[in-house]
Parts: sequence; structure tokens; C-alpha cells
Amino acid sequence: MRTRVAVVVSALAVASLAATSCDNDEPEPKITLTGQALMDPNNCLPCHDEQFREWSSSMHAYAAEDPVFVAMNKRMLRETNGASADFCVGCHAPMALRLGLTKDGSNLAELPTAVRGVTCYFCHAADAVEGTHNNPIRLADDGVMRGGIRDPIASMPHRGAHSPLHDRESPESSTLCGACHDVVTPHGAHIERTFDEWKNSLYSQPGQLSCGKCHMDGRDGPAALVDGAPVRKLHDHSMPAVDVAITPFFGVEAQREAVQRLLDQTLVTKLCVKQTPLGVVADVTLDNAFAGHEFPSGAAQDRRVWVELFAYRGGEVIFSSGAVEDRKPAAALEDPNLWLLRDKNFTTDGRETHLFWEAARVEEEQLPAAVTADPLDPRFIHSVTRTYPLPAVPDRVTMRVRMRPLDFDLLDDLVRSGDLDPALLDKIPTWNLASGTREWTSEIGFARCLD
Ligand code: HEC
Ligand code: HEC
Ligand code: HEC
Ligand code: HEC
Ligand code: HEC
Repeated sequence: MRTRVAVVVSALAVASLAATSCDNDEPEPKITLTGQALMDPNNCLPCHDEQFREWSSSMHAYAAEDPVFVAMNKRMLRETNGASADFCVGCHAPMALRLGLTKDGSNLAELPTAVRGVTCYFCHAADAVEGTHNNPIRLADDGVMRGGIRDPIASMPHRGAHSPLHDRESPESSTLCGACHDVVTPHGAHIERTFDEWKNSLYSQPGQLSCGKCHMDGRDGPAALVDGAPVRKLHDHSMPAVDVAITPFFGVEAQREAVQRLLDQTLVTKLCVKQTPLGVVADVTLDNAFAGHEFPSGAAQDRRVWVELFAYRGGEVIFSSGAVEDRKPAAALEDPNLWLLRDKNFTTDGRETHLFWEAARVEEEQLPAAVTADPLDPRFIHSVTRTYPLPAVPDRVTMRVRMRPLDFDLLDDLVRSGDLDPALLDKIPTWNLASGTREWTSEIGFARCLD
């Protein structure tokens, strides 16, 4: 693929840092960081320590370490006899693949960390996106680190340039993220559609919000720790969302807190308890008010969002829905009223599967994204309401909106096939979204909704 740089693996490890010293007294710019040394994130730390630390705690840095990824990749290779062997690593360890250091990801653990995961170089060497899914990113491999700064100072040890693909003020920047955040399986199922969803939403319209506007918070500061570096807009590289590291990893605690904070603010919800001619009901409304795509998005085949509702009378539970136990898959709950948001994947012969490389067709249930900012447009309201029939008049109703990045139907299966360490299952979070936690009591009365 593209220019294949012949790499001597050890050269990455011994890339000379002395040559990239930050307090270089020499007046004229010296380009000392080139070739393989530019591919190693550790060589960016001396000057871009903030971007380095944030990235080091991101799922991009974790993409090839993730034990669930490793387990699924291993199983995919075994069960498909190596057909489409490079499918997964093409996004989870793109440098390793493009440098020819791996063919199928089976040797990732032996490769230097510099080529595992979605690295600095992979994003910053990109100069074109030649499609909409499955990582069609072209690398220039010309030693230029592309970013959002129009006039990078001359004292860089590498070359630098502004690029609309890397400037979150430009809508094109979403195509860089979207290149990987949109996955079509070898059998043609569009299993991750984040980019497609964004394109069809309000947020891709002129003057609206690119991926980076929401996922890379801006702040002021020097972009590099060198003398004379001016104040720039810096962009957060930690990109938390739903998924977290489940093995020891840099900044895991902060990652969990950041995910919780974001999820708490994502939805707007409403709970109404009403008397109707047909009896008492609870109406639950979920509005995907703040995500720039559907919710959940991305790996929605493994992701689960559900509503838990309990109705009480005199301290007794008279109705429940979505009462998913710890360590039990949400989809296994026998509950005719269960409101479960997720994708379901099906094979070519119509069998449901969570081994997504087998998927030929997807059924989706997600909360839609905003498509218009015009309140007079009938499509303005995009919230979804479910009605729960209650067997009797309650005196208290509680509600929670819960989410798992991955659920135990997939994870238990990977443990059974011997690909995943069962000890990791305890590390899988179940998030409660603050905006979805509501409690109605009879004092509030039937006339008012909780929102
Ligand atoms: C010796 C210090 C130093 C090292 C090491 C270094 N850089 Fe830089 N880098 C700079 C300076 C200085 C700038 C310009 C900052 C400015 O103009 O505000 C810069 C700018 C950048 C930009 C922005 C370019 C633009 O025009 O938007 C990117 C991207 C970048 N560096 C990536 C990297 C990566 C990736 C590494 C590691 C492989 C790295 N740098 C290593 C000093 C360094
Ligand atoms: C080379 C492919 C690639 C590119 C380009 C890319 N990503 Fe990612 N991204 C990934 C992979 C792979 C993961 C998941 C890693 C894992 O969970 O194992 C991920 C994870 C994420 C997550 C965390 C998802 C979660 O569930 O927690 C966010 C947010 C994210 N990326 C946003 C972005 C944004 C914004 C951009 C553009 C600036 C971008 N990505 C560019 C491949 C990519
Ligand atoms: C998923 C893609 C991606 C990865 C991985 C990534 N960056 Fe960036 N980086 C960006 C984008 C996009 C911007 C520009 C945002 C803007 O200006 O709107 C950026 C901006 C920068 C800048 C300019 C200053 C700033 O904060 O805007 C520097 C320096 C930088 N990155 C360094 C790094 C280093 C060092 C690493 C690895 C440790 C890294 N990046 C990993 C996408 C990435
Ligand atoms: C208007 C703001 C906004 C825009 C634009 C946006 N996102 Fe998001 N994104 C969110 C919010 C809010 C969430 C949910 C909160 C969370 O996951 O922590 C989210 C969640 C995600 C997730 C986690 C998947 C999940 O299950 O929800 C990924 C991956 C992601 N976004 C990637 C992207 C990419 C790629 C783009 C551009 C194509 C993009 N986002 C555009 C706000 C935005
Ligand atoms: C086109 C790029 C792309 C390809 C190909 C790809 N992934 Fe991913 N993968 C991503 C992105 C982006 C995310 C993050 C999505 C999110 O969190 O919403 C992700 C997330 C994941 C996750 C964590 C979230 C989850 O539960 O699914 C696992 C595990 C994973 N991928 C495994 C694989 C395996 C195994 C393959 C090959 C069969 C594969 N991926 C192929 C881009 C890709």
C-alpha cells in the first residue's frame, strides 16, 4: 500500500532523541526528525507532551492493545482461515500493516509500541482520504506533519503544514475521522456508520460541527515546548466516548471519569406517569440532543443502551423493565417491554451473529441525530417516546438509562472459545447516564412530567 518504507524494527527504538533537543541554540531551523523516527510517538514527547499524554490515554493508543480486539482478531483469523486477514489491523494498527510488519495482526504483541494502534504519524502524515469507509487514508510520507496551524514556527525539527483534513474548523476534517469510523464488512454489511450518520445529520451542514469540534476540546497554550512558541489553540487528543481500557493503561481513571462526564450530558430525557382511559402508563422520552450522529453509534453491534424502569406501590415492585443484572447480557432478559438500543447483525444465511466479520446485514435501533435547526421544520423534534403499561396506580416510579460499551453475550462467547481472559469481565463498565436518572412520586402528581 502506498510508499512502503523498508523498516528495520530496531531503528524505531533507537531513534536518536539527542538530535531533537528542545533547547537548540542554533538560530537556523534544522530538520532532524524524519523517516522512521517520525513514526515513533515517543519522539514527540519532548515537545508535544500534552498531546502525547492525552493520546497515550486514548482508545487510539489502545486500539491494538485492547484484549477484546486481540481476542476477536485471533478468532476471526482462525474461523475464516485467513480470508480478509488484514481487515482488522487496517484500522487498529494501520502503521504496522502499511510498513509490512504484520499481515494479519497475529504478531502485534511482538512489534514495537511505535507501530501499534492509531499513531501520531498515521493521522499527521495523511494528505488525502480516498473513500468513505475502511480506512482509505493516503499517507504522504514526505516528512511533513500536517495540522491545524497555518504558520508553524521555523524552529521545528520536522516539517509542518496546515491541512484542511486536520483543521476542525473545516468540514473536510470529518472525512479523516470518518475514514475509520465507518466500517463495511467483507460481506458488505455497514456495521459502523458514524461518518455516514454525521453526513446525514444537521452537523455536516455549512457552519455546523465537525467531529473535532465535539471530540477535540480546544484550549489556549503553546503547541510545542520550545523557546518562542506562540499561544495557539490546542486540541484534546484523549477523545473519550464510551469504551475504556480494561488492562493497566496510562490514565485509565481519568478516561473513566471523562467518559462518565460526556455520557451524562448526551441525552435529554423525560418521564411522565399518566392516567389514560386504558389505565396507568409511564411515558419515557429519550432525545439524542448532543451527539453529532445517532446514539449509540460506532460499534453498536456490541454496544447496549437500555432503559431500566421500576414502579412501586407501598414499597412493593409492581412493574419492572430493563432490570438487567450485573454480568448478564441485556439481550438475554426476558422482558416484552425492554427498550434496548443496539444493532443486530445477520450472516448471509440469516443467522444472528455477534462475530461481526460474518455480518452481511444489519438491523438498527438507535436514537436519531438532529437533522435541522429550524424549529418550524417537522423533523426538528427527533426524540423517541415509549409507553410502559403499569398494572396499577404506583406511588413511586424510578428510571435509569444504562449503557455498556460491550455486552456479555459477546464477551462470554470469547471466553468460551478460549480467546479472552475471564478475569477481564469484571472491568467492563455499566454506565448510568445522569440525564436519564429520574424519580416520580405521587406527590408530583399525574399532571406533570419530569424533564
Ligand atoms: C524539538 C521539538 C519538537 C519535536 C520533538 C516534535 N515537534 Fe512537532 N512541532 C514543533 C514545533 C516548534 C511546532 C510548531 C509550533 C507552532 O508553530 O506553534 C510543531 C508543530 C507540529 C504540528 C503542527 C503542524 C501544523 O502546521 O499544524 C504537528 C502535527 C506536529 N508538530 C507533530 C509532531 C509529531 C507527530 C512529532 C513526533 C514524531 C513531533 N511533532 C515532534 C516541535 C517539535
Ligand atoms: C486509523 C483509523 C482511525 C482514525 C483516522 C480515527 N480513528 Fe478514532 N478510533 C479508531 C479505532 C480503531 C478506535 C477504537 C479502538 C478500540 O476501542 O480498540 C477509535 C476510537 C475512537 C473514539 C473512542 C470511541 C469509544 O467508544 O470510546 C473516539 C471518540 C474517536 N475514535 C474519535 C475520532 C476522531 C474525532 C477522529 C478524527 C480526528 C478519529 N477518531 C480518527 C480508529 C480511527
Ligand atoms: C486520530 C488522529 C490523531 C492522532 C492519533 C494524533 N493527532 Fe495530533 N491532531 C489531530 C488533529 C485532527 C489535530 C488538529 C485539530 C485542529 O487544529 O483543528 C491535531 C493537532 C495536533 C497538534 C497541533 C496542536 C494542537 O493541539 O492542535 C500537535 C502538535 C499534534 N496534534 C501532535 C500529536 C502527537 C504528538 C500525537 C501522538 C502522541 C498526535 N498528535 C496524535 C489528530 C490526531
Ligand atoms: C455535535 C457534537 C458531535 C459531533 C459533531 C460528533 N460527535 Fe461523536 N459523539 C458526541 C457525543 C455527545 C457522543 C456521546 C457521548 C459519549 O460517547 O461519551 C458521541 C459519541 C461518539 C462515539 C462513541 C460511539 C457511541 O456509541 O456513541 C464515537 C466513536 C464518535 N462519537 C465519533 C465521532 C465521529 C467520527 C464524528 C464525525 C464523523 C463525530 N463523532 C461527530 C458528539 C459529537
Ligand atoms: C474501518 C476501520 C475498522 C476496521 C476495519 C475494524 N475496526 Fe474495530 N473499531 C474501529 C473503530 C473506529 C472503533 C471504535 C468505534 C466505537 O467505539 O464506536 C472500533 C472498535 C472496536 C472494538 C471495541 C468496541 C467494540 O466492542 O466493538 C473492538 C473489539 C474492535 N473494534 C475489533 C475489531 C475487529 C476484531 C476487527 C476485524 C474483524 C475490526 N475491529 C475492524 C474501526 C475499525
